Amino acid sequence: CAAAVLVMRHRMKSSGRWAKAEAILMELEENCGTPTGKLRQVADAMTVEMHAGLASEGGSKLKMLISYVDNLPTGDEGVFYALDLGGTNFRALRVQLGGEERRVIKRESEVCSIPPHLMVGSSHELFDFIAAALAKFVATESEDFVLQPGRQRELGFTFSFPVRQISLASGILIKWTKGFLIEDAIGQDIVKELTKAMERVGLDMHVTALVNDTVGTLAGGRYNNPDVIAAVILGTGTNAAYVERANAIPKWQGLLPKSEEMFTSLVRVINMEWGNFQSSHIPLTEYDQSLDAESLNPGEQIFEKIISGMYLGEIVRRVLCRMAEEASFFGEDIPPKLRNPFILRIPDIAAMHHDTSADLKVVGSKLKDILEIPTCSLKMRKMIVEICDIVATRGARLAAAGILGILKKLGRDTVKEGGKQRSVIALDGGLFECYSEFRNCLMNTLKELLGEEVSESVTVEFSHDGSGIGAALIAASHSQYLEIEES
Ligand code: GLC
Repeated sequence: CAAAVLVMRHRMKSSGRWAKAEAILMELEENCGTPTGKLRQVADAMTVEMHAGLASEGGSKLKMLISYVDNLPTGDEGVFYALDLGGTNFRALRVQLGGEERRVIKRESEVCSIPPHLMVGSSHELFDFIAAALAKFVATESEDFVLQPGRQRELGFTFSFPVRQISLASGILIKWTKGFLIEDAIGQDIVKELTKAMERVGLDMHVTALVNDTVGTLAGGRYNNPDVIAAVILGTGTNAAYVERANAIPKWQGLLPKSEEMFTSLVRVINMEWGNFQSSHIPLTEYDQSLDAESLNPGEQIFEKIISGMYLGEIVRRVLCRMAEEASFFGEDIPPKLRNPFILRIPDIAAMHHDTSADLKVVGSKLKDILEIPTCSLKMRKMIVEICDIVATRGARLAAAGILGILKKLGRDTVKEGGKQRSVIALDGGLFECYSEFRNCLMNTLKELLGEEVSESVTVEFSHDGSGIGAALIAASHSQYLEIEES
């Protein structure tokens, strides 16, 4: 009889736990909701902020930074380098360009991970590390890459942080994002920092262009397809760039000397820095709020913190933590590993979310390997997949709303009379590439928002490594030797 009472009590207790866990899940689902109407409001708010950011410096959360890329690449020749710094890895790349006809003849690249202490250390240390790795890579250049005699090697530097540019080959770092915080680099010209470091390691290389990854992706995408009008990055961070008419950029016209006003018929590539977008229409939860408050940049990059690869896993971890604490989801004790911020990364979340096995064994093994949770019932695994789904769906749908915002700004969200205007968005980044649930959700949402007819004229194109190649192409089309050749 006593045993029966114990069993009964245990059942009641565990059903209470389940009820609590389910309540937490339901609350999450409700607070992360992104019905179409809300997404339209987000898109409208994005368009409004784009106008405000273009009107005046500091006029909006969207910085709408003017890139100095006007001459989008066409048919240049020779060997060019690119350096891509923007996440936990950086990449060095070299391409041999073969002119209009042969285009990119050969490319080689090397990825190197950045030791975490360098992400929060000093500018000197970070750039020395990068320059040394680049020098090593240059030393492996084979005869397939032909540097014209008497020329210095040229580099397109993709630096994926907010930078205020004053020319194509210089720019002041405004702030760090994505887990980097190197105080002494803020306010400095990033090209100067890299150039000094290259000199220190004895590398003879000229930085011809400084670009954001979105700008590089846009240039790379346009090289292959002239209908590319915008580029979006969905990786560690998230951001977008697009081609804007110069006369739609009031803050730039103010800066133009009178003699250059005639150039206002030209276009400029705008780096939106949409990661910093904020609107009361964005659905935020307590997990987002605590993540933000404890981050290196509280109050900033809110759009990025609910969409991008660096943060999705962390949101899931925070939900699981609450379930462990309030619903004893993993038993009486909270698994110690679950307390580690950022322990769940995108590959883990994607693998759990993509688990199609009947017993969700991938979920089980991820929990075991990463969080050291030895056993976990099928019901629990299902709940964990649901959490991943809710968090990823919100991110993907909001990213689609952001794209709609850009299309609206450009008047490309409706069918134009008489014309089949095509709009291609180049997309790059590991989150989009490797997380198919996220990718599919984004694509479907965009279709849902645009409607059948308009979505036929809008294409999203994956542009693998667009930013690296794009930076090399921009360096080529703005080469320091061009004027000499042309004159
Ligand atoms: C962050 C950076 C931005 C970059 C994006 C994607 O949002 O601030 O410059 O483009 O990440 O890498």
